[in-house]
Amino acid sequence: MENLNRRALLKFGGALGAVGAFAVAAPATARTPWTWSPAGSVLGEGSGVDPRQVWDPEADPLVADLLDRGDVPRVNELLRGWKKNGQPLPDGLPGDVRDFVERARQLPSWADQNKLATAVEFNEKRGTYLGVLYGFASGMLATVIPQEARAVYYSKGGANMKGRISRTAKFGYDIGSRNAYQPDGEMMVTAVKTRLAHAGVRNLLPKSPHWTSSAPENIPISQHDIMVTWHSLPTTVMRTLNAWKVPIPASESDAFLHSWQVSAHMLGVEDQYIPGTWAAANAQAEQVLDPILAPTPEGLKLADMLLDLGKQIDLTLLTRPVLGALTRFVLGDQIADWLLIPREPVWGPLLEVSWGPFIQVREGLLTLPNTDEAYWTFDEFLRQFVLLYMSELRPISIEIPEFNNPN
Ligand code: HEM
Repeated sequence: MENLNRRALLKFGGALGAVGAFAVAAPATARTPWTWSPAGSVLGEGSGVDPRQVWDPEADPLVADLLDRGDVPRVNELLRGWKKNGQPLPDGLPGDVRDFVERARQLPSWADQNKLATAVEFNEKRGTYLGVLYGFASGMLATVIPQEARAVYYSKGGANMKGRISRTAKFGYDIGSRNAYQPDGEMMVTAVKTRLAHAGVRNLLPKSPHWTSSAPENIPISQHDIMVTWHSLPTTVMRTLNAWKVPIPASESDAFLHSWQVSAHMLGVEDQYIPGTWAAANAQAEQVLDPILAPTPEGLKLADMLLDLGKQIDLTLLTRPVLGALTRFVLGDQIADWLLIPREPVWGPLLEVSWGPFIQVREGLLTLPNTDEAYWTFDEFLRQFVLLYMSELRPISIEIPEFNNPN
């Protein structure tokens, strides 16, 4: 009955618009008010409604209907053939899905093709670092984002972390690829399919007894949650590149931000919540990401799986102790301690002492007489991350889930 009510709410919420109906479903727990101003958004204005009370009023009721009608397998099957941004939708799609996808695949009016082209340059120049950062740092950070860790662990994909990493890698790869938002690229398709997958999760997770007994909210993946995770991606990447003192021209860093602003819009986030500048993004991250980080039993299990990632394709440098040392180095002692990662005696100090100079030498900003051994070890380390990242990019299709993690 409880689940039926939640399903009814998702449908009802879609019919009435996002906010009013969903407010009923919000947890009663007291929390800090939402104070981030929409003046800092890509729109520069907005209602300022708390995004913890906003989900996806278009996709959620649509997927609720698909699940009720038993249409999800057919829709997944048909959408498997839709790969390129400019490709017409396959014949046979139900009319409501077709209408939704036709609307959702449009770029926002504020998308700037010049910036998107510059973002490609940035991604090409910085691809090596991005392999480590998207492939690992963002993933490890996600394990200490409680609402995401619980949602991921108890949803269908939680049973198969490697598959999930491939899918997230696809998102990072598609957004950075040369033709990401061009007709022959795949990013718009990836974003729309992810939006549908998230709507599936919103409908299904409330039926998981594991999730309901551990999550403090009634419906997962609010627009607030999406922005939290968003900050674990571009904001964390840019924070880390800045901490490593990688020189990045302002035009490239703005363009990188822009490509992620567009992706947030295409994931269904309202423009009023998408930061318009890095200053606004950092301010929002300080408000929404930094204070909520915390360990959870689910996040610990996910982190444990991630630390064994290198084993899978026998990457000799990406061993569990080394990945642990990297987590401590990039995300700090508190997060490493939460994740019960032991201090590593060789790589820990090596990263502390030699990573900074390595980056400076690599960037041509410093010539050292002989950093040789550390330099080449780090260079190989980066290369193995790129290999790992690329190995995860098997052709995959993002699909609407039909069930939760059975475990
Ligand atoms: C699914 C990316 C935010 C939880 C997916 C998928 C992608 C993705 C590419 C589809 C592939 C798959 O099946 O695994 C993103 C991005 C986000 C974001 C780029 C923000 C910028 C979130 C948030 C949560 C979440 C905030 C939870 C609070 C999930 C879950 C699935 C999923 C549970 C389904 C996995 C499954 O069971 O198969 N996401 N996501 N995501 N996402 Fe997200």
